[in-house]
Amino acid sequence: MTDLGTISSRLSHPRLVLPAAALMVALTAPGGAEAQDNVGRYEQTDIEYGATLYNMHCIACHGENGDLLPEINLRTGRFPNSPSDRDLGDNIRNGLPDTAMIATEYTDSEVTALVAYVRNIGSVDLDSILIGDPIRGQGIFEGTGECASCHRVFGRGPRAAPDLSNIGAIRTASQLERSLLGTAGATIPINRAVRVVTADGTAINGRRLNEDTFTVQLVDENERLVSLEKATLNEYTILETSAMPAYAETLSDDERADVLAYLLSLKGMN
Ligand code: HEC
Ligand code: HEC
Repeated sequence: MTDLGTISSRLSHPRLVLPAAALMVALTAPGGAEAQDNVGRYEQTDIEYGATLYNMHCIACHGENGDLLPEINLRTGRFPNSPSDRDLGDNIRNGLPDTAMIATEYTDSEVTALVAYVRNIGSVDLDSILIGDPIRGQGIFEGTGECASCHRVFGRGPRAAPDLSNIGAIRTASQLERSLLGTAGATIPINRAVRVVTADGTAINGRRLNEDTFTVQLVDENERLVSLEKATLNEYTILETSAMPAYAETLSDDERADVLAYLLSLKGMN
């Protein structure tokens, strides 16, 4: 657990609240030819996470406002070597040949966030950030939030709910935010709860660990590992409802921001 503190502390920063007006601007894709190749929609939480990453990794060369380098002003939204978001993400990750910008290992969610921020750097006015403090977030996760009563992190905790040790690397900031708000459909399909009834009538509620055409492996509510032949089952249903409580009301905005920062710090390294 010691390394977690190190990883987490990289994410520490003051937080602030965005005025609604800035939020509207942020959700509007920048104009210009380059934007045409892009999805055109960047989520606020990703932009905010991108801003925190930018301050950690990019500000030294590109400056606070993205206009420090004579070769390239990020605020123009015109990136000669990055026509699409995919190119932009690849360049952020792989660096640009023959320039000072070198390859850096970013996770997929970090790249998503950096692209979202860089695409909006000219139009978004970030005075503060809705991603909170990961250390406080860990406290809430293990304490009042009771997340640790269902979720496992770095080998500690039950298996009833998905293991979150790597969740910050595989889910974007906005997807994690949706999980916390209880917005339907945020969960990776394999993590949806299932209900099976075996040939002898036994009902099992659980979560899939693995599945192929013929068999399915579940963890049931008592954390038992169950392997089943699908052809022998009387019922096999993937549940639409979530066993995960919604935290839109039970956690304050600040607490959710802290928990989000903690989740984003979970990148599979212990
Ligand atoms: C060590 C300095 C350095 C760091 C750190 C750095 N960059 Fe750069 N970056 C450069 C230089 C230099 C260029 C301009 C290359 C040129 O066009 O000559 C550049 C170019 C770019 C471009 C233009 C790409 C294009 O299509 O032409 C983008 C976008 C960019 N950087 C984003 C980032 C982001 C985001 C980060 C942080 C994750 C970052 N950079 C970190 C030095 C840096
Ligand atoms: C009562 C058990 C329970 C509690 C308490 C709980 N969760 Fe969950 N959580 C689940 C289950 C089960 C899922 C799997 C998806 C589903 O059923 O919707 C899930 C899914 C998630 C996901 C999405 C995982 C994915 O694959 O995308 C995240 C993130 C998450 N929980 C974080 C938290 C956090 C943070 C807390 C505390 C603030 C928390 N959970 C509290 C049961 C719980």
